[in-house]
Amino acid sequence: MNSAKNAPNPAKLTPNLGLKRRNSFGLDSTAELAYEITSADQLPALMTKLGDKKLAWRVLGGGSNVILPESLPGATLLINILGQEIFKSDQEYSWLSVGAGVNWHEFVTWTLDQNLPGLENLALIPGTVGAAPIQNIGAYGVEIGEYIDSIEAFDSVDHAFVTLPQEACQFAYRDSHFKQNPNRFIVTKVVFKIPKAWQARLQYADLTKQFAGSNSSPSARHIFDAVCAIRSKKLPDPKVIGNAGSFFQNPIVSAEQCEQLIKQFPNLVSYPDSNGKRKLAAGWLIDQCGFKGKRVGPVGVYENQALVLVNHGDGTSIDILRLAKNIQDKVFDEFGVQLEIEPNIL
Ligand code: EPU
Repeated sequence: MNSAKNAPNPAKLTPNLGLKRRNSFGLDSTAELAYEITSADQLPALMTKLGDKKLAWRVLGGGSNVILPESLPGATLLINILGQEIFKSDQEYSWLSVGAGVNWHEFVTWTLDQNLPGLENLALIPGTVGAAPIQNIGAYGVEIGEYIDSIEAFDSVDHAFVTLPQEACQFAYRDSHFKQNPNRFIVTKVVFKIPKAWQARLQYADLTKQFAGSNSSPSARHIFDAVCAIRSKKLPDPKVIGNAGSFFQNPIVSAEQCEQLIKQFPNLVSYPDSNGKRKLAAGWLIDQCGFKGKRVGPVGVYENQALVLVNHGDGTSIDILRLAKNIQDKVFDEFGVQLEIEPNIL
């Protein structure tokens, strides 16, 4: 057999690709060399080439959790590996294999259509399936890490494909092994393990409120609809106004520090976290500092949720980071708490 016949098509290259419509903040940014990856087997040859030429590279998924500079030198890998299937099922679980380029919300919708409830609390999160494990996306009391069986990725250090089982992914609040090792792994596929025994997860305040007083327990579809409605009300639609969702992580402090803060600020919003620590609502802290709805030139703080920074039009990463610094300083002066930026600054 002629081996050239079996070689994958090389990744498609577009020089000087404008990324304004490929990042939810709507930032003007140009990728010097944009490579579209449609199949994992394109990666070894491409990564060899980039290594030989000593070119910088980074991965862009859905572009919904990044802050892009005006230009991205070297190679930008646009991951468009598609496909989703239920490939195994037993009494207790279903296993799904999903390409990294699949749109997250469309995937969640598909799982419900397949009668596989579990991911409904994570509806309407922008981005791709491959980006979901990087920051361990979470909303309304559910984090994706608990539903992941394993991740398939190209390891650029060992120049080989790897399969990382859940335990190796080190999932934590908005964190993972992938986030801790930036620019090492290129996620190509995510394997999910969804339990067949399903229970509604309504402990999160907004959802509890939504279903209080209803005498029958809601279905996964009801929860999906409720999450979509709550998110649409609280979070700006990136198609209408540029944003990257929560701009800061909710800071984690010791129980003692939290108690001290509550003495000074009795309305402080906090939640229990692991190891007896407390997680503070960063949105509340920022709101208290008077930033909600504030506009600074082309950027600002969203009027319905102070944790979200928005781009009203022609804002740049510099405008956004300047506003972010201003917020961090004010919150630190007022509460002694350091806010960490959540999206990746490229
Ligand atoms: N709050 C205010 N003022 C504000 C915003 C919030 O007082 O301007 C208070 C709220 O009243 C509430 C508390 O802060 O008591 C928490 O607010 P919310 O319920 O909106 O959730 P969050 O902690 O701000 C987190 C995630 C969101 C996720 C929601 C729902 C982080 C960094 N953010 O936000 O994730 O959708 O919970 O589970 O953990 C994202 O990561 O992009 C994202 C949107």
